Amino acid sequence: MSLLFSPLALQSIQLKNRIVVSPMCQYSSLNGFANDWHLVHLGSRAVGGAGLIFTEATAVSPEGRISPDDLGIWSDEHIAGLKRITQFIQQNGSVAGIQLAHAGRKASHRRPWEGGASIAPTEERGWQTVAPSAIPFQEGQHPPLALTAEGIEQVLVDFEKATQRAIEAGFQVLEIHAAHGYLLHQFMSPLSNHRTDEYGGLFGNRIRLLLEVIERVQSVWPEDLPLFVRISATDWTEGGWTIDDSVALAKILTEKGVDVIDCSTGGNVARAKIPVGPGYQVSFAEQIKQEAGIKTAAVGLITSAEQAETILANGQADLILLAREFLRDPYFPLHAAHTLSDTIAWPVQYERAKPR
Ligand SMILES: Cc1cc2nc3c(=O)[nH]c(=O)nc-3n(C[C@H](O)[C@H](O)[C@H](O)COP(=O)(O)O)c2cc1C
Repeated sequence: MSLLFSPLALQSIQLKNRIVVSPMCQYSSLNGFANDWHLVHLGSRAVGGAGLIFTEATAVSPEGRISPDDLGIWSDEHIAGLKRITQFIQQNGSVAGIQLAHAGRKASHRRPWEGGASIAPTEERGWQTVAPSAIPFQEGQHPPLALTAEGIEQVLVDFEKATQRAIEAGFQVLEIHAAHGYLLHQFMSPLSNHRTDEYGGLFGNRIRLLLEVIERVQSVWPEDLPLFVRISATDWTEGGWTIDDSVALAKILTEKGVDVIDCSTGGNVARAKIPVGPGYQVSFAEQIKQEAGIKTAAVGLITSAEQAETILANGQADLILLAREFLRDPYFPLHAAHTLSDTIAWPVQYERAKPR
């Protein structure tokens, strides 16, 4: 059996393999509700054999959405649509995970296929964004409002309530989105956080909001279910968040009981120069795993079974997340097993197509 298809126990959950569907915004919700698109999109990847399937960034509040079309979990009414999806995923042998998110200053944007531009609060479908400091992501954008103490408390309440709803919806893994320049990353990085209160300045202050979010999430999320945190391991920009910061943070998160650090990069400043190429973020997952002694997930231009297997064999990560490859091929795990000469169960309905 390859490492890619060896099971992984995380708290009380057993993943049948190491292949994970990375969170991917679908920009296809009305008022945050999951619909048939989400069921078919995520459900297909369960049929395709993924061990763990994450929802897209799911907004904890309406103003935390990247676009007006994002998935959300800010009201109890959102639970039923999500439950339908978790049940289907579970019935098909996979584990359902939710990524909880707040976009901060990167909220209120059009969908990519509508140009992706920011929408000012005065424009139709736009709203006022919030952030650690009143600095827009890009020049010319309507500036965010710096969060007040009350605003920060509301964010914490929103994450806690969203977690409670995620449990009711049947999710068994929860990931806090603290990457890609969204609200929590904005607080972590000195490039976007110019606050002078206890949430700004030194490293310990800049990570405070993330630690408080984790505490609120853990106040409701069962101890025996896995908790992931996605970070951008570097801002790829002088004066920004660094891999050393990530290692220091990961050590703290290990002590707090976080199970996996999902290691992405970038997204906080538009000018960052990112050396994109095959497996370009894997070294960050490796360094964090080795120096902080925590399980890590590797993501970013991992596109083949052999590449994924090599990352695991080199001890660089514990889980492999794929995004775009899963859009190209929802059945990637079924094909990967054949490539690696592993015998795995296919959906009985598809048995007759299984390569022998
Ligand atoms: C369509 C699309 C939507 C995405 N949405 C999210 C998201 O909601 N949350 C997130 O953390 N990353 C998101 N990402 C980033 C992916 O999860 C992943 O980190 C990135 O695409 C690199 O992996 P890949 O090379 O396998 O695509 C998205 C990527 C794509 C292509």
